[in-house]
Amino acid sequence: MKPCEEEGLGAAAGGDPWKECMEVAVQLARRAGQIIKKALTEEKLVSTKTSAADLVTETDNFVENVIISALKEKFPCHRFIGEESTAAGSKCVLTDNPTWIIDPIDGTCNFVHRFPTVAVSIGFAVNQELEFGVIYHCTEERLYTGRRGQGAFCNEKRLQVSKETDKSKALILTEIGPKRDPETLKLFLGNMESLLKAQVHGIRVIGSATLALCHLASGAADAYYQFGLHCWDLAAATVIIREAGGIVIDTSGGPLDLMSCRVIAAGTKEMAMFLAQEIQTIHYRRDDEN
Ligand code: IPD
Repeated sequence: MKPCEEEGLGAAAGGDPWKECMEVAVQLARRAGQIIKKALTEEKLVSTKTSAADLVTETDNFVENVIISALKEKFPCHRFIGEESTAAGSKCVLTDNPTWIIDPIDGTCNFVHRFPTVAVSIGFAVNQELEFGVIYHCTEERLYTGRRGQGAFCNEKRLQVSKETDKSKALILTEIGPKRDPETLKLFLGNMESLLKAQVHGIRVIGSATLALCHLASGAADAYYQFGLHCWDLAAATVIIREAGGIVIDTSGGPLDLMSCRVIAAGTKEMAMFLAQEIQTIHYRRDDEN
């Protein structure tokens, strides 16, 4: 058997074949975090991607390259989905092969403005099932980790989602997404209006989908919804939330589809279903259609 085949069959061989992968992810997330933190206050060359609100800097590309080249060297047979490689034309398809799903800087707009809410996110899936997630909040040096069946942690403190079921006591998180056309804005603002009319406590937008999802995993908010986020915003955070006892589903109320660019996450089923009933769909192209 060739080395790559052995690697791919690791899960069937028993033990914890992905433990080493997760350790490497933690090291790389910390290393990337140091690069991002240093670059935060420096001058940046900023370009746009799918819209004027979808930004990329040299640091995004540099960090993604650092992470993926280190992983390729260590795990040559694994697959990679990265935000900036996808923007540059790589296919964004999740197969059964061990696959790393990477956002080098989540919160690029924050990063550009020196707003210190930025993270690096590394998710890992095998047989299309998410195995672990590592998210590093670069400025606050908070490391969020989740391993399927083994819990979720922030700097080694176990995470637990909120158990709130009453919408009138809910703090809801969302993000705006990249589209700014009138129809999208009408739906986005309409969704906020519906939730405010339903008398939720509050709605917050922090500029980083992954860190908002980490707040949810920590119990600091009760629910999250978004249209227009990507698999690299969601992969690592999904494991962390589920391992913290939360729910991550599609905005229709059905099972999550990682490539669908939409999500509801919540501490309780009641809160997730409240959002599913309240919000209108905003259409985005699937990640695997690009
Ligand atoms: C984006 C941010 C933003 C959210 C977008 C994400 P990026 O990620 O999380 O808050 O609204 O949907 O794609 O581009 O900063 O990596």
